Amino acid sequence: MKKILITGGAGYIGSHSAVEMLKAGMEPVILDDLSNSDIKVLDRLEEITGKRLAFYKGDCNDKSMLDSIAKEHKLEGVIHFAAFKAVGESTAQPLKYYRNNVGSLVVLLEFMKEQGIKDLVFSSSCTVYGQPEVLPVTESTPRQEAESPYGNTKKICEDILVDFVKSKPGLRVVALRYFNPVGAHTSAKIGELPLGVPANLVPFITQTAAGIREKLTVFGNDYDTPDGSCVRDYIHVVDLADAHVKTLSFLQSQEDNFYDVFNVGTGNGNTVLEVIHAFEKVSGLKLNYVIGPRRPGDVVKTWADTTKINKVLGWKPNYSLEDSMRDSWNWQKGLA
Ligand code: NAD
Ligand code: WQD
Repeated sequence: MKKILITGGAGYIGSHSAVEMLKAGMEPVILDDLSNSDIKVLDRLEEITGKRLAFYKGDCNDKSMLDSIAKEHKLEGVIHFAAFKAVGESTAQPLKYYRNNVGSLVVLLEFMKEQGIKDLVFSSSCTVYGQPEVLPVTESTPRQEAESPYGNTKKICEDILVDFVKSKPGLRVVALRYFNPVGAHTSAKIGELPLGVPANLVPFITQTAAGIREKLTVFGNDYDTPDGSCVRDYIHVVDLADAHVKTLSFLQSQEDNFYDVFNVGTGNGNTVLEVIHAFEKVSGLKLNYVIGPRRPGDVVKTWADTTKINKVLGWKPNYSLEDSMRDSWNWQKGLA
């Protein structure tokens, strides 16, 4: 089996990707410092897959840690999920974000070049597009000035990858620009674990339905959108995980010194109110929500043009918005 290092593999997207990789005959080796995840994920992954995955607790800024993993495993690729992702916190503590998100990529690239590990999938984000002028967003839509230090780390990391690949290190690299990952594994054994008050919509919805939060505030209903609330492209995390598997297979057949970017979304935009209604439909519950003021800095509407990933990687999403809401809700109920 091809061994693939997954940094941040105990986290939300990484853990789901580990499951899909095993299904596709790849062997994930997880490195995670557990700064935003729980060691119990390893047990859950074993329950789902029947396999105890190799796990290293450590920081991927620590080169000696990476070297010691490479001594024990013949790694053929890396998926670099590890990063901090709280947009608000990144404004208050920008250096924490630059050190972790940018610093870890530099260390990882040095490590990969030294070890002759060719293939890298990098977690980027639709945040690099800001508010696009033309929708849907294609990969050639211009990137915009970042709204937050977090967003800027994704732009800087993409630029580092471009420059590094130009220097002909022998790597083959894809940056996946995720739209809004939601949902959970259908087993409800793994899912998103937000610490404290969630900043993102779907965990806020499920925590409100579970009685952990009193009510959801919809941030504005007077935008130029079908019902006045903001529009996003919500992609089920298992579909997103599958995009990583397809990307790794694709990289294998590319020439050395390859770099490209792909959007990963459904290709559909949904408003906040549509998400709430999908949740209410699948849960059979009435969600307590109010319309509040706009959230400063919010993108009004964005969704992906997925033509490129459909054609080049042969990837298509299989889950609907209702599937995502059902799986998020089942996961939340299991947490209570
Ligand atoms: P997550 O916080 O659940 O997972 C990230 C994992 O990385 C966590 O388990 C954390 O403990 C670990 N980690 C952080 N810094 C580390 C370090 N220095 N060394 C080792 N482990 C470290 O987040 P996620 O939602 O799974 O996101 C994964 C990636 O996808 C991140 O790069 C994120 O920026 C990107 N992304 C996420 C979203 C989203 O909305 N979830 C959207 C676009 C892009
Ligand atoms: C979705 C929609 C809110 C909470 C963030 C990051 C971005 C990327 C994805 C990583 C918006 C509305 C939300 C609430 C609400 N992450 N909302 N009430 O804004 O698309 O982006 O996650 O790369 O960088 O900024 O996601 O989940 O915060 O919001 O009405 O309590 O839900 O206004 O329209 P967003 P989100």
